[in-house]
Amino acid sequence: MILIHTPNPKEVDAYLALFRAARPQRRFIALDDQADLSQVSQLIAWGPPEGLLSRLPRLQAIFALGAGVDKLLSRPDLSPATPIYRLLDGGMAAQMTEYIRYGVLGYQRNMDVYRRQQAAGQWRMLAPRLPGEVSVGILGLGEIGSAVARALAHDGYLVSGWSRSPKRIHNVHSLHGESGLEKLLERNQVVACVLPSTPETRGLLNGERLSLMQPGSMLINAGRGDLLDQRALLALLDNGHIRCAQLDVFAEEPLPADHPFWRHPAVTMTPHIAAITLRERAVEQICAGLDRLERGLPADGLVRRDDGY
Ligand code: GLV
Repeated sequence: MILIHTPNPKEVDAYLALFRAARPQRRFIALDDQADLSQVSQLIAWGPPEGLLSRLPRLQAIFALGAGVDKLLSRPDLSPATPIYRLLDGGMAAQMTEYIRYGVLGYQRNMDVYRRQQAAGQWRMLAPRLPGEVSVGILGLGEIGSAVARALAHDGYLVSGWSRSPKRIHNVHSLHGESGLEKLLERNQVVACVLPSTPETRGLLNGERLSLMQPGSMLINAGRGDLLDQRALLALLDNGHIRCAQLDVFAEEPLPADHPFWRHPAVTMTPHIAAITLRERAVEQICAGLDRLERGLPADGLVRRDDGY
C-alpha cells in the first residue's frame, strides 16, 4: 500500500487521482482513508505530520514531492535505513530558469533602478547594457542549477557556476571549493543561489562572504532561506553595497509581517514559488521509481543522507 500525504487535503485528492490513473494496479491511499497504516510500504509526501513515520512499521521507501529534503531529513522519527527519493526535476528546472532569468534580465535592464526612480518621480535614462556585459554566478549546479546556467549562457550572459565538484557545462565557467566560492562572489554582478539546505550549505552566505560581492551587484536566493544571513544582507542593501535582491525563500516562512524585507525598496520578495512541483511531472518520476524498485532496480533521485540531498 502506498500512502500519499501533503498538508493540503485538496492536493492529496489531486495526487490520488493522478497516481491511481497512472498505475491502476497499485493501491494508493490517503491518511483519512482509515487505512491500516501497518500495511504501508511506500510514502509519497511533502511535510508529513510529526509522528507519522513512526506509525509506518513496514515502510520501505519515501518519495519526496519536492527537490529539497532538508525538512524530512531533520525528522526525529525518520529511520536511518529508509531510502528517500527526491524529485530531480518535477518541472522545476524550467520554472527556476524563468525565475532567475527574470531577475537577471531586470538587473541588466536596470528595472530596479527605474522602479526607485518612478517612486521618486525621476525621469532619467541609464546607459543600456548587453547580456554579454553582465556576469552571473550560479551557486549550485545540480539538475536545476545546471539548467539555469545553460539557459543564461545561451542568452549571452557571462556565466560561472559553483558546486561541490567541478562540472563541465558548455560556456559555463565551473568553480568549486572555498576559493572557488570566493571567486564566484567577487567576480559576478549577479549571484543566484539554488543550493539545497545541507549541513555544509547552512549559513554559507554569511556577512563576510556577502561582503565579497561586487559593489552594485544583485543577489537572488531561490535555494533555501537558512543559507543566507538575512541581517547581513539587509545591512549591505541598506548601505547600498548590494544594489538589489530577489528573494523567494526565508529563514522563517511565511516571513514575519514586521520583517524589513517586506517594505525594502531594494528587495523583490516572492512566497517560495520560484519552482513549484508540477504534479503530472512528479507522478511520472515517482511511478517510474516505484516500477524500478519493484523490479529490484535502483530508482532515480536517491538522497545521500550524509550529503543532505
Ligand atoms: C521546493 O522548494 C522544493 O524543494 O521542491
